[in-house]
Amino acid sequence: MHIKGIILAGGAGTRLYPMTSVASKQLQPVYDKPMIYYPLSTLMLAGVREVLLISTPVDLPRFRRLLGDGRTWGISIEYCVQPEPAGIAQAFLLADAFLDGAAAILILGDNVFYGKMRLNEIVRDFGGGGCIFGYPVGDPERYGVVEFDRDGRVLSIEEKPEHPKSHYAVPGLYIYGEDVVLMARSLRPSARGELEITDLNRLYLDQGRLRVIRLGRGIAWLDTGTPVSLLEASQFIYTIEARQGLKIACPEEIAFRLGYITAAEFAELIDRLPQCDYAEYLRRVLEEAD
Ligand code: DAU
Repeated sequence: MHIKGIILAGGAGTRLYPMTSVASKQLQPVYDKPMIYYPLSTLMLAGVREVLLISTPVDLPRFRRLLGDGRTWGISIEYCVQPEPAGIAQAFLLADAFLDGAAAILILGDNVFYGKMRLNEIVRDFGGGGCIFGYPVGDPERYGVVEFDRDGRVLSIEEKPEHPKSHYAVPGLYIYGEDVVLMARSLRPSARGELEITDLNRLYLDQGRLRVIRLGRGIAWLDTGTPVSLLEASQFIYTIEARQGLKIACPEEIAFRLGYITAAEFAELIDRLPQCDYAEYLRRVLEEAD
């Protein structure tokens, strides 16, 4: 099934004020690169090469300046404005023309994943319906929460419940079949005036077409919503990168390693970068591959 990627990177980011008064949350650094590199890398590693980035009218030009059309990374990135933060599920209505009947994988621009998720296999084997993830957290009331029965079947999904029925949060990573735009069209705004992603998931669940994959504890799903969690995410990335001497979520490296670009294209790209640690790192990746 042909799957296209969507990154939703709008919203107000008020909890990170004053940092977000000049650049949106997803442009803030997580250690050594802008936050948006992480979800973009997750999509690239999943094998997705057509991406639509959705953001606010003010921030969209900044993302465009940062990421361009994706060609140098062997992918294509298109852009679309979300005039108001009217809900995560609105992304599919905005993406209608881009998707053009394809299936979709949506990732929130502030979601950072690290670890072997086998997302490329999940995407490759995806057969339609809805596919979301469940991740154990200590504070499920802050997220969409999924409840399972003894056999692992999904019983319910609730958005930020006061009394969570499980400790499985739903990360901001969702895969839907070719009917996703149609399904999203049938949603009505919630009490807070948003097209809720949890309502969309419930729709698939009610039709018996929702799969929830439980992510193991070997995978890190990091929060970036507050100054403290942002600092912790940076420290996490720093710790792994310093230990391994390898970078996490480096789109240039991923493009090269996955064969999205040739060695010659990779070398050209590196030559255009300013002299910095990041460029040094990429040069090393190229040399070691030779
Ligand atoms: O991170 C996972 C969680 O994301 C899920 O567990 C929840 O079910 C889901 O509702 C969402 O919860 P949040 O509290 O994080 O939602 P928030 O409204 O903060 O939006 C998440 C990101 O998406 C945020 O960076 C802003 C962006 N966004 C959000 C909305 C509602 C948009 O770009 N446009 C929007 O209209």
